[in-house]
Amino acid sequence: MNIKYCPIQPEYCDRIIEFIRETAPKCGVSGYSEKHNSGDLRHVVIRTSDYSKENLVVLVINSDKISENINGLAGKIYSELNNIAGVCVNLNPKKTNLILGEKTVLVKGKSYLEEKLTDKIFKVGAETFFQVNPYTANNIFEFIKKYISENFDSPSVLDTYAGIAAFGICLSDVSKSVVSVEDVKASTDLAKQIIEENGIKNVEVINSDADKFFKNETRKFDVTLLDPPRKGCSETALDNALKLTTGKIIYVSCNPATLARDLKYLISKGCKVEFIQPFDMFPHTYHIESVAIISIQQ
Ligand SMILES: C[S@@+](CC[C@H](N)C(=O)[O-])C[C@H]1O[C@@H](n2cnc3c(N)ncnc32)[C@H](O)[C@@H]1O
Repeated sequence: MNIKYCPIQPEYCDRIIEFIRETAPKCGVSGYSEKHNSGDLRHVVIRTSDYSKENLVVLVINSDKISENINGLAGKIYSELNNIAGVCVNLNPKKTNLILGEKTVLVKGKSYLEEKLTDKIFKVGAETFFQVNPYTANNIFEFIKKYISENFDSPSVLDTYAGIAAFGICLSDVSKSVVSVEDVKASTDLAKQIIEENGIKNVEVINSDADKFFKNETRKFDVTLLDPPRKGCSETALDNALKLTTGKIIYVSCNPATLARDLKYLISKGCKVEFIQPFDMFPHTYHIESVAIISIQQ
């Protein structure tokens, strides 16, 4: 479907897509057919930074090698369009409906964008998680920072499902120490780089599955942040988070159904939900992001 305009994405993405639609055939790059598992270009992923106004383009291809034709297309995107930070190629030769394959290669420019949340600058790569709506994300980060600074005096914070440690980094100014835990290595590597570049000394980044971390950790934390994917947390993860937390759990969720399920479980363990603040992270859709503040029965 040659859709020319999408109201929920930045306008410049429409221009990039149109350019690729026109230029790919001229470079000998064909579109992918899911039915026949044939053709070259499966998807185009575009990340856009509101802060730097740059775009990172990822060409997802049906091959484990980058052909001359794909290289040619990447070169044209980089040189003929404005505000392109870099062009990457993601190799996804499998018969699957997953968008991204396992390997991403930088072909032109740089492999990351810079985005701003609160007063901190973040590097965002092709495969690293970053909140999709920087305006609303900033409201959420400021909201949690304000809540913590008004209710705690320099607390120890555990930031789980941390991505590039965005919460950990933004909360570092109002916390004694932060431990950020994330299982995607590309994200923890980037987090360490951002922390070093910002001269932050009190954020520790751990590359681990959250359940494994919870199980083996013995330190206690004043505040635990849970920001899991849509499927929410396992009961074991919630039990272990409770065991490690002395003050509050702050649960950030993009799925009200799994949030309700997990809050019901926490209430059954004696917790009290103080309040839930929704945020319109996905305007023009029925999706909603929520922040729940949970106190623990000691
Ligand atoms: C909703 S995102 C939140 C990221 C981050 N808190 C932020 O605001 O940018 C969820 C993150 O959890 C990570 N993740 C998913 N399952 C995990 C697990 N079992 N253990 C640790 N991290 C996990 C994902 O890779 C992703 O980065």
